[in-house]
Amino acid sequence: MKYIHIRDVLDGKHEGETVHLRGWVHRIRKQTKMVFLLLRDPSGVIQTVIKKAVVSEDEYAGATKMLVESLVQLHGTVKADSRADGGFEMQVDNLEVLHFAEEFPITKDQSTEFLNDNRHLWMRSRKLTNVLKVRDEVFRAAREYLRKNEFYETTSPMFVSTMGEEGADLFEVDYFGKKLYLTQTSQMHLEPQLFAMERVFTLAPSFRGEKSRTRKHLTEFWHLEAEEAWCDHECNMQRQESLISHICWSVAENRSRELAELGVDPERLLKVKPPFERMTYDKAIEVCQEAGLKIKWGEDLRTEAEEILTRDREKFLFVEYYPKEIKSFYMKNNEDDPRTYKCSDLLAPHAYGEVIGGSEREIDAEILLQNLDRIGDNPEKYKWYIDIRRYGSVVHSGFGVGVDRLITWMLELDHIRDCVPFPRTVSRIFP
Ligand code: 4AD
Ligand code: MG
Repeated sequence: MKYIHIRDVLDGKHEGETVHLRGWVHRIRKQTKMVFLLLRDPSGVIQTVIKKAVVSEDEYAGATKMLVESLVQLHGTVKADSRADGGFEMQVDNLEVLHFAEEFPITKDQSTEFLNDNRHLWMRSRKLTNVLKVRDEVFRAAREYLRKNEFYETTSPMFVSTMGEEGADLFEVDYFGKKLYLTQTSQMHLEPQLFAMERVFTLAPSFRGEKSRTRKHLTEFWHLEAEEAWCDHECNMQRQESLISHICWSVAENRSRELAELGVDPERLLKVKPPFERMTYDKAIEVCQEAGLKIKWGEDLRTEAEEILTRDREKFLFVEYYPKEIKSFYMKNNEDDPRTYKCSDLLAPHAYGEVIGGSEREIDAEILLQNLDRIGDNPEKYKWYIDIRRYGSVVHSGFGVGVDRLITWMLELDHIRDCVPFPRTVSRIFP
């Protein structure tokens, strides 16, 4: 027997035909002579009608016993019906209940805490299903873009012995009695690989032990990181623009139905086009000061500053050339203002803020050693990383996209955890 998806029916391909559907009971309403059952599968929800006069006695008894989330196979005829959500209805000829669900704990109007405690069940909701389908498209489109532009997908270790980002707290792991860390970034293990493949990327989790309880922080987030040889700071920003635009357009095009159900206007995504706007860090400080924020040159742009910079914007904004004190030792010196590095953060509009961090990389081993000396870090730990600069050191740049943040922005979600199947935050590690 060939089962089809509900979407095929709602698309009008089977009007008047007998079809076979299977899935879960989304809602059920029982009357004396008929049962209205909303059937759900990954592709959608359809109204079905089970009439006492049509199905067998056993089948009807089963239908009246079913609770929400029971698993069923339905066989029946498709009828156009303007009163039904989606425009079509199935009139059931016969059915099999494959599993009678127990009372489903999730009902209307439950607290966020309760829903998150029951994430393993809540993910069946239309909202989460739609979000996860957008998430899939983001992963797919990112890979598609990078592959088309001759990047090789590769991997990096999750257990590392050196820290990648200063200021981002590390999770320690007891590794057979030795202290290791969960990686904060794959960058340092990607850079050596570009000497073999020129353009490389990885899509993997990164771990940050920051105690920040904000709507933008996970302790485990998905990080899309790319490194590109023969690419300077300017080329790096262009790469980010075209990658982000491609991802946004792909979601608008291939997930229009999900966007509609989530109440997101696809124009929000279609408007994302190169070139993005740009501002120097110097200027950003001025703008924040003028807006009344107490901030001095040399301080990091935190949530409040990023909000000021992006709240009245429709377009993504690169902030370039940050002071060395607040960025990492591996970034390329900016000759035009040696207090700063050739780096950029990409801020998403509508007051969202940082979604990417990137820079041209320092390619001179001696300068890297000086940078480490300046910040008082031990060069021994980075020996291998500096070593790659001794053999055909090539101009290169790279960046890291916070994939969960990008999705949160795209879908206007309240909290970053809302786009992850099983989020990990300071206060949540269950389920
Ligand atoms: O700005 P970050 O710390 O940069 C790096 O790790 C670089 N080594 C990346 C690179 O050049 N390959 O992190 C990159 C991005 C941020 O812009 C942010 O979007 C995301 O990762 N991010 C987080 N996302 C969710 N939760 C957190 N705790 C995050 N920390 C960073
Ligand atoms: Mg950053």
